[in-house]
Amino acid sequence: MTPLPAVPAARRPRRCVLFMPGDDAHKIAKGAALGPDSVIMDIEDGTALNRKQAARDTIRSALGSVAFGRTEKLVRVNAFDTGWTREDILSTVAGKPDGYVVPKVESAETVQAVSEWIGQLEALHGFPAGGIRLIAMIETARGVLNVAPIAEADPRVDAILLGSEDLAGDLGATRTREGWEVFYARSAVVTAAAANGLQALDGVYVDLQDTDGLRAECGRVLGMGYGGKSAIHPRQVPVIMDAFTPTAEDVARAQALIAAFEANQRAGAGAFAYEGKMVDMPMLRAAQKVIARAGAGTG
Ligand code: COA
Ligand code: MG
Repeated sequence: MTPLPAVPAARRPRRCVLFMPGDDAHKIAKGAALGPDSVIMDIEDGTALNRKQAARDTIRSALGSVAFGRTEKLVRVNAFDTGWTREDILSTVAGKPDGYVVPKVESAETVQAVSEWIGQLEALHGFPAGGIRLIAMIETARGVLNVAPIAEADPRVDAILLGSEDLAGDLGATRTREGWEVFYARSAVVTAAAANGLQALDGVYVDLQDTDGLRAECGRVLGMGYGGKSAIHPRQVPVIMDAFTPTAEDVARAQALIAAFEANQRAGAGAFAYEGKMVDMPMLRAAQKVIARAGAGTG
């Protein structure tokens, strides 16, 4: 029998990406110790205008001294049109971050320019070519309109991160708990990401106390195909990590469905009824993705 189609190898899981101001060494160390999949040390809006250089220096030093363990080390640079992006990268790259997060991306050309700079610096420092990854943030109306070319702009891009707060500002929309004002953008981002085999990551939930609301929002975007979500406070990390990790029950159900699918394929049936529902290839793929996500979470 021909083997069942496999899901593409899971990229590094990013269930929870925790932001912290790049000039705050305490929060960087504390954030790393919490064990989110990624930390994003921010030189953009989380850092005051008169602290940009302090943030670069703090991040460079943290990259060399903090025990990040399995947590991915990401640096968010300033937006391309500030003219500071290159200096942000130059000041931090020697610490060999795992990747850079570029905010307010509006064109494929921006992604390509940043990728090229990183490529030159990888060569200069003797780092493997393409090893430093890129995450593009979509958080303006123009970015949403151009998300398709942005998602396919460069092989260095791993994920697209939707910044709903900035986007709402750009649209003149008011943020609500349900999030209909950013629903089109959420759909556009996850579709462009999936079409290019990238992860879609959701933005922050600004109410630091409302963990029920955060959990509900995680469920909604997980159901849309998002692989993870941003955190801005330690309290949010376990809630988000948990929401994007399949439960033992999810895994058992997926394994049973795959076994039933294989048995039916051997018997010559492409579609069959399982627990009262029609099952065919799309459900197999969904089950394989659950297994892949579960496996990705154990790294
Ligand atoms: N990462 C790591 N540690 C954090 C953290 C974060 N994002 N936010 C708070 N902490 C730490 C605090 O330093 C404090 O540590 P301590 O108990 O060892 O002193 C502890 O968690 C509790 O923090 P708390 O007092 O509840 O919050 P705060 O008033 O100090 O900070 C914010 C509130 C919003 C300023 C803070 O959560 C923050 O800086 N968030 C990230 C902001 C950011 O990066 N924005 C840009 C991206 S959208
Ligand atoms: Mg922002």
